[in-house]
Amino acid sequence: MPNTPQPLISSKLAQKLKEQIGHELGAHQQYLAIGTYFAQQNLDKWATLFYGQAAEEKEHALKIVRFLVDVGEAFDFPAIPAASTRFKSAADAVSQALKWERSVTEQFQSMAKVALAEGDFVGFQFLQWFLEEQVEEVSSMEKYLALVDSGINLFQAEALLEL
Ligand SMILES: [Fe+2]
Ligand SMILES: [Fe+2]
Repeated sequence: MPNTPQPLISSKLAQKLKEQIGHELGAHQQYLAIGTYFAQQNLDKWATLFYGQAAEEKEHALKIVRFLVDVGEAFDFPAIPAASTRFKSAADAVSQALKWERSVTEQFQSMAKVALAEGDFVGFQFLQWFLEEQVEEVSSMEKYLALVDSGINLFQAEALLEL
């Protein structure tokens, strides 16, 4: 008799992680759009900051991809929404980024709830890194928003950016 391996993570969590690949790649594209908004105004350090953030989001997607492969899940890549490079202001761009980071945090919290409810400790363990990462991402976006909202000249503010 062929031996069908037991899936390592719960199917409910696997489904949510497959969707999360799309959210991370969507965030990747949204950060590319914000970086481009700044680059178009010659705010090169602001652009570099958000392009760097975009690269991190791609890494997040890849981390999930590798995990799903490791646990033996089959999946396709979801469609990602278009991202506009047009924002009302720098504050508008950064506050949208903060809003996305908060919603990604909720997505991981809801996945952690699913993992616990399903008794899926492998999946729960995997989510820990993302939960910690989200605390950092929300906090740094809050700081950038405070900097933009302070009314400081954005060229002068580049000296304060940690890249
Ligand atoms: Fe992310
Ligand atoms: Fe993020």
